Amino acid sequence: MKIGIFGCGGVVGRLLVREVVATEGCELSGGTGRPGGALIGVDVGEQAGLEPVGLAVSDDPRALMAASDVIIDFSLAPATVQHMLLAAETGCAVVLGTTGFGADAQAAVDRAAADAAIVEAPNTSPNFNYLLVLIERISGVLGDEYDAEVLSMAERRLPFAPSGTTIEVAKAVAAGRGVNLDDVIEKVRDGVIGPRPPGVIGIAIVRGGRIAGGQRAIFAGDDEVVEVAYRSTDPAIYAKGAVAAARWVVGKPPAKYSMREVFGLA
Ligand SMILES: NC(=O)c1ccc[n+]([C@@H]2O[C@H](COP(=O)([O-])OP(=O)(O)OC[C@H]3O[C@@H](n4cnc5c(N)ncnc54)[C@H](OP(=O)(O)O)[C@@H]3O)[C@@H](O)[C@H]2O)c1
Repeated sequence: MKIGIFGCGGVVGRLLVREVVATEGCELSGGTGRPGGALIGVDVGEQAGLEPVGLAVSDDPRALMAASDVIIDFSLAPATVQHMLLAAETGCAVVLGTTGFGADAQAAVDRAAADAAIVEAPNTSPNFNYLLVLIERISGVLGDEYDAEVLSMAERRLPFAPSGTTIEVAKAVAAGRGVNLDDVIEKVRDGVIGPRPPGVIGIAIVRGGRIAGGQRAIFAGDDEVVEVAYRSTDPAIYAKGAVAAARWVVGKPPAKYSMREVFGLA
């Protein structure tokens, strides 16, 4: 199976290169970097700390799709619309690990899924996705007598908030209650805010240093607080989960898939 990596020079991208090369049955078809960036032309393996693999980092995502059975995309949000248009054009399957994109890119993802198999994967850790199932269940059992808050922690370099992972946690809380997250999410609190409105799902953001990505779903009742926490300690877990998703999605018909489906949790 030929796997190409968009954003192969990033923190997760380099780990993906190593994971693909180390995984039996997978063949690295190449990697892309930011057009005009310093990595273009450098060997994909070498820039990931491996022996040369004879493939240069390219700035041509269309050509890499044509040479691949599946793309794993861990580039940056400004590229997502273009990448999804190309997926629709080529029919190449994609595991979309990139997060932080807006409504226009989300629409492009949904459109591309008519012509290509797309795994929308804001968090590729298997156990994080398992935890989402538990959070949804706990949220449903506790109901909105418990005030739900999601605490999001990440390192200082994450340039947007809330993270895709945080939104996944909040969506699981909302799904457990049978409500639409957009109707109940509360992201900003400042000044005289009055008593907490019933039913909202609050989001609190912590950013700093090298804090490892962490999420906490908090259900605060009158007599007790129930908390469910997740923290990744090495981004290698994202590379492992993404390669598992790539292997799963090849050969699937065009549609949008979730990581829960990949791991048999849906
Ligand atoms: N799904 C998950 O489980 C998960 C986990 C962690 C992170 N993420 C997300 O995955 C993405 C990458 O994370 P990261 O920590 O690896 O970030 P990163 O270290 O900043 O890596 C992103 C890489 O993409 C490159 N890039 C920028 N524009 C590109 C383009 N048009 N085509 C190809 N490559 C391009 C960047 O190059 P330059 O440095 O030259 O700009 C950089 O090498 C982010 O959106 C992040 O939020 C998802």
